[in-house]
Amino acid sequence: PQEAILDRIRQCDTLAALEDIRVELLGKAGIITAELKTLGKLSPEERQAVAPAIHARREAVTEAIATAKAALEQAALDARLASETVDMTLPVDRVAPGSVHPVSQVMDELAEIFADLGFAVATGPEVEDDWHNFTALNIPETHPARAMHDTFYIAGEHARPMVLRTHTSPVQIRTMTSQKPPIRIIAPGRVYRSDSDATHTPMFHQIEGLVIDKGITLGHLKWTLETFLKAFFERDDIVLRLRPSYFPFTEPSAEVDVGFTWKDGKRVIGGSGDAPGGGWMEVLGSGMVHRRVIEACGLDPDEWQGFAFGTGVDRLAMLKYGMDDLRPFFDGDLRWLKHYGFSA
Ligand code: PHE
Repeated sequence: PQEAILDRIRQCDTLAALEDIRVELLGKAGIITAELKTLGKLSPEERQAVAPAIHARREAVTEAIATAKAALEQAALDARLASETVDMTLPVDRVAPGSVHPVSQVMDELAEIFADLGFAVATGPEVEDDWHNFTALNIPETHPARAMHDTFYIAGEHARPMVLRTHTSPVQIRTMTSQKPPIRIIAPGRVYRSDSDATHTPMFHQIEGLVIDKGITLGHLKWTLETFLKAFFERDDIVLRLRPSYFPFTEPSAEVDVGFTWKDGKRVIGGSGDAPGGGWMEVLGSGMVHRRVIEACGLDPDEWQGFAFGTGVDRLAMLKYGMDDLRPFFDGDLRWLKHYGFSA
């Protein structure tokens, strides 16, 4: 009885049960399939008499199954959507957003300032050989200047003695030996010295600058430093004082001071350090690249000249953001970052 079959299909309440019915009726060994098979053995007249009913039944059953299947699937989907509803009124689990560390922030600022002046960023390894860190920079083995750097040596046998680089100046060498002049680069990165107090940490950050070209003078150096410090401190009244100094890899060498005035017990960069209530802060080491360094890199010092400078990134950050102790830079204490506005 077709109606009974169709009722069974309509009342079926799971997809699995529906599939069972489909197999029972329309499967290989299904009842309707068997009926269809009998048609082949009938004479044309007999076939004409019974075939339409069988085909109609198959059609009706097929359609009823498809309808039931669609209804069951829709019901399953509705149930799932109902159970997976998001409750928009639930309180949110607050995750503190990360933020940029002041050192990274300052390195980014510096890279941007120097990019505007046409400087590319160069890098070198933190584990450096002593030729790049010292010898090529005109600091031979017996040179007393090696004592200026409290160097960490890497234990073990190496082709050349290995150190944790004590400054970013070896990147000068790596750049001059791998690129053709004219060169205009800065090299920011970590450096290491065996030293620790309120203003020194065994690891700190420097940024190196190097220009190699023809006819470069001390005037270019001074203009570059003045332009960069004005941009960095965001003030036009930056006054520099170049003091004669000594670095083995520059000649002449100059230490660069920047003028500041005291305000509420803090140093505020700007103005002449000789003004009443003012003072000078040393911010940079610099000079004209020594002939011997240019030579060590395989260049002709009569053709190529240049200047170099190096400065402590952490110190620049302290000055710009009014921090007075270097050590918390590397403690990872969120309260400190928050205090200086570097964390939400
Ligand atoms: N490398 C020097 C230092 O670490 C700084 C410096 C760099 C000086 C370049 C002159 C030229 O103190």
